[in-house]
Amino acid sequence: MRMESLRDLYISELRDVLDAERQIVKALPEMIRACSAEECRSAFEEHLEVTREQVKRLEQVFDSLGQKASSRKCAGMRGIIEEGKEILEQDASGPVKDAALIAAAQRVEHYEIAAYGTLCAYAKELDFQDQLELLLETLQEEKDTDEKLTGIAENIVNVEAVRKAG
Ligand SMILES: [Fe+2]
Repeated sequence: MRMESLRDLYISELRDVLDAERQIVKALPEMIRACSAEECRSAFEEHLEVTREQVKRLEQVFDSLGQKASSRKCAGMRGIIEEGKEILEQDASGPVKDAALIAAAQRVEHYEIAAYGTLCAYAKELDFQDQLELLLETLQEEKDTDEKLTGIAENIVNVEAVRKAG
């Protein structure tokens, strides 16, 4: 693909984040099964639903650009998810495992916040107002998820992990 304009770069980044979102949809069910705390599980379940909507939103963006919604392998997200999967294999349980799962999920969120932040800046510069609105909506959801996970870690999971260790 030619990459000579900001529009080309924008489309390329959209293809990357589309793959990232699809990888997250595939990875979350296993993380949900590994959770112990109800708060942790329900946050991941909610985020799975949100992520499915985010994929649809990206498809709308491609539609508006008159482009096919095809993705490009996102190696960054693959690495983050691989690390997350290592947690599932570790000999941890209960709140310590939950804490590790939240740490992995927050790495995912931060990657996405960076990606959508960039995409919003490009959409703004390119004057794609309708696309900008869709991308801003997703960016806000990623930030909200990140904050929610921080709250669950600090108020519930980390506290419980320390308590259990005696
Ligand atoms: Fe997302």
